[in-house]
Amino acid sequence: MLPQIPRLSDYGVSPTHGFLPDTLPLTRLPDPYYNRWEAIVANLQALILSRRLRGVVDRLPVLSTVGLEHDAEWRRAYSLLCFMAHGYIWGGDSPADRLPPPISVPLLEISDRLEVPPVATYAALCLWNYKPLFVDEEIDNLENLATLNTFTGSLDESWFYLVSVAIEARGAPIIPLMLSAIAAAREEDTATVTASLRAFAERLTDLTNILQRMHESCDPTVFYHRIRPFLAGSKNMAEAGLPRGVLYEDGSGTETYRQYSGGSNAQSSLIQFFDVVLGIEHRPTGEKQDPTSGSDREGRSARHNFIQEMRRYMPGGHRRFLGDVSRVANIREYVEDHTNDTQLCLAYDACLAMLSAFRDKHIAIVTRYIITPSREVRARSRSRSPEVTRQRMNLAVASRKKENQGAQSQRGTGGTALIPFLKQARDETGEPAVEEWTRRFMKRQVRTEGRGDFFLGKDDDGAPLVTEDVEVKGLAGSWTMEDDVGGICLF
Ligand code: HEM
Repeated sequence: MLPQIPRLSDYGVSPTHGFLPDTLPLTRLPDPYYNRWEAIVANLQALILSRRLRGVVDRLPVLSTVGLEHDAEWRRAYSLLCFMAHGYIWGGDSPADRLPPPISVPLLEISDRLEVPPVATYAALCLWNYKPLFVDEEIDNLENLATLNTFTGSLDESWFYLVSVAIEARGAPIIPLMLSAIAAAREEDTATVTASLRAFAERLTDLTNILQRMHESCDPTVFYHRIRPFLAGSKNMAEAGLPRGVLYEDGSGTETYRQYSGGSNAQSSLIQFFDVVLGIEHRPTGEKQDPTSGSDREGRSARHNFIQEMRRYMPGGHRRFLGDVSRVANIREYVEDHTNDTQLCLAYDACLAMLSAFRDKHIAIVTRYIITPSREVRARSRSRSPEVTRQRMNLAVASRKKENQGAQSQRGTGGTALIPFLKQARDETGEPAVEEWTRRFMKRQVRTEGRGDFFLGKDDDGAPLVTEDVEVKGLAGSWTMEDDVGGICLF
């Protein structure tokens, strides 16, 4: 008997909004008991700027979670506490390595209940942190979205989160569509599978267009220096001032330091759903495709790798959904069994090509928002004496400090840099393509020589479409994904 095709409602996935909640995020907790949390987050920027947040939080009573009723209230409370926690940790001249009980006690309880880690995940920052400007208009339109909470109050930060919200909303219909395609493949209904794949490919181009809009209102310098430091986690953060991670005080006296990755769009269940449903496999970083092990799909995807690791940062239901969908995903096999059907193969390859194009654009974004500013920081640090270097300690200055120390440490097991990791994910996207030409096309290596010249052209925003490999080494947990300019999660 074939396993049952997952039902969205069993996993907290919405048929219309996908991984965004079915009901809109609350703009405020209804019980006035929580007014103090609301007041702190409403004034977060001022409290961070004036360096008064820590004092205010330290004096806050430990509020109970008994006043939280519906799921939407738990989600709002989680988001509020995550903003408070990261503001508390990173909103000073040096990071705080202890979270006091007024934050940690309720945060740990709420995270437990929602099955998310007690850090600012993609769910806290994006999925559960938006509102429509006009309730009668769609939320897949950036012109109808606003954020609820931010660290900086900047338009750039709002835009950074909202681009993801719009992508999640616009991509949401692909989820039920492709579950039906799985059912259709079981029935040998090629026409429905083909039509679904075509609709999927078309919608993927919409998502890439939304991603491209990041450049409109999120400035790379603001992102790198002002926003990203607040998103940082506590894993491998020694250079940024958290050598042991963060201790979540609960009053028991037996607490130990914890280490978590920071918030990242890599925690988006939507993009992972695309991979799963199309049968795309992501190998551990740095591992090449083994042409002899085509049947090892289960084993390979289960192995430890960054993309897989990010599932631990998704809400429990979403994480389980991905696992269960991977048990029924049959589209790739179906296409492989019907290679004589040109229309079907074309539609499948189009999906891979569109997802690969999405990842291409994303690589250009990461280059512009992380790699380039980090190089500028390094260049500046070389030309400055240590005395005049800003004393503040956080993620943005971490690589500069390391440089000044002359440390070229390489901790952990791997040696993989950020851009090669992203390129590997992009290349793996193209691997299942039926047509040899499509496969080669998606694996193309665009050289950087002559970048921006007339023939190669430029990306829409002026950034090169594909960048050269950037040798960034250093940070690692117990596994790969390392770079010392740091990603967002910072492994
Ligand atoms: C300024 C905008 C963005 C920056 C700077 C950025 C940066 C990064 C970085 C550094 C990584 C590597 C993992 C990590 O350290 O977290 C990553 C991975 C990833 N990002 Fe983004 N990102 C941005 C926007 C987005 C958006 C809007 C999406 C789509 C919702 C997205 C989807 C992903 C995915 C799916 C991965 C995992 C790798 C993959 O599957 O190809 N990113 N991003």
